[in-house]
Amino acid sequence: AEVKKIAVIAGDGIGPEVVAEAEKILKRTEELYGYSFETEHVLFGGIAIDEKGTPLPEDTLKVCKSADAVLLGAVGGPKWDSNPKELRPETGLLGIRKELGLFSNLRPAVIFDCLKDASTLKPEVLEGTDLMVVRELTGGIYFGEKFRREGEGGQEAVDTCVYNVQEVERIVRQAFEIAQKRRKKLASVDKANVLETSRLWREVVNRVAPEYPDVELEHVLVDNCAMQLLRRPSSFDVIVTENMFGDILSDEAAMLTGSIGMLASASLGEGSFGLYEPVHGSAPDIAGQGLANPIATILSVALMFRLTFGYDKAADAIEKAVAEVLDAGHRTADIAVDKSQALSTSEMGDLIAAAMK
Ligand code: NAD
Ligand code: IPM
Ligand code: MN
Repeated sequence: AEVKKIAVIAGDGIGPEVVAEAEKILKRTEELYGYSFETEHVLFGGIAIDEKGTPLPEDTLKVCKSADAVLLGAVGGPKWDSNPKELRPETGLLGIRKELGLFSNLRPAVIFDCLKDASTLKPEVLEGTDLMVVRELTGGIYFGEKFRREGEGGQEAVDTCVYNVQEVERIVRQAFEIAQKRRKKLASVDKANVLETSRLWREVVNRVAPEYPDVELEHVLVDNCAMQLLRRPSSFDVIVTENMFGDILSDEAAMLTGSIGMLASASLGEGSFGLYEPVHGSAPDIAGQGLANPIATILSVALMFRLTFGYDKAADAIEKAVAEVLDAGHRTADIAVDKSQALSTSEMGDLIAAAMK
């Protein structure tokens, strides 16, 4: 079979720990299905600041651009938190998304039945929850002009939020298309009662909606959506929203699944190329202790197989293996009821790899 090139960014904190488990899954897939992956590890984030003086070195970007897909752990940590903007790991993350044209971030939140007791919500509220947050990833307040100035009340800080029609239209169309392949429901989330960017967003959604007559559309204000996600999570199918709202709502959606350690993501542009990473961060509070849940990163590999390589069977095998291992009662600490029985990061990765068939 054709060799697929994967740029691997382990990053900081628990990043290297969870990425190591995802790489076991790549290896196991080669053994089982005869596929072949060529992985290249590159420096990025805090570790790249330390070793190269910048969070996103030129050669890292070059390797990512020439790869078929990127697998990323997480970046950031207290060590770099008071650095100037250019020397922050998070700035590298925004840079790589922009440079690679990854405007669409898919964050599926699926409830594994046996994990209903791991969530802080009542099991009957969670019943049947299966939603996808489609987050705009290269625009909005993350990328608008930012500056400081002197004002009457002392120093002022300004973050600007900008969206143009083109940016909104491409993400909204993608969300409609995803909804057509799912339960055909789309919730467009904005703050159109206050924000001009949200009013533009809503106009675009309403203009393209007639082209997707089979999709039932609702507009939901973001504050109400945050509440409805906890009240009636199973009623959502696809949620499309701007960059910052998507960031916040997807962490909230993660908790429906029991842990942020369960939520995978795919960042896509126009073609099949994609960057795959867990939704969680570098978790400095548990880094280096083998406590991290590797499932979000492992499920991100399943998304890579399905969305970039078209390896649907291998993607199914990963998801089935995860379900099987969880069904058998295996847990990392974040999803365990009895923490004394919890598995380490690598024990969980080994079990999932072994369960693949
Ligand atoms: P976080 O997601 O790293 O951690 C939040 C909480 O969830 C912590 O208690 C952590 O222990 C727990 N957690 C996260 N992932 C887990 C896993 N796989 N298994 C078990 N528990 C897990 O968010 P934070 O603490 O707000 O941010 C820490 C750093 O990570 C910051 O520097 C932030 O900027 C960065 N960050 C990076 C990314 C990314 O690389 N994509 C995403 C989010 C945050
Ligand atoms: C995420 C993270 C990033 C974001 C940060 C670390 C820049 O929270 O991927 O969700 O806000 O996009
Ligand atoms: Mn986030």
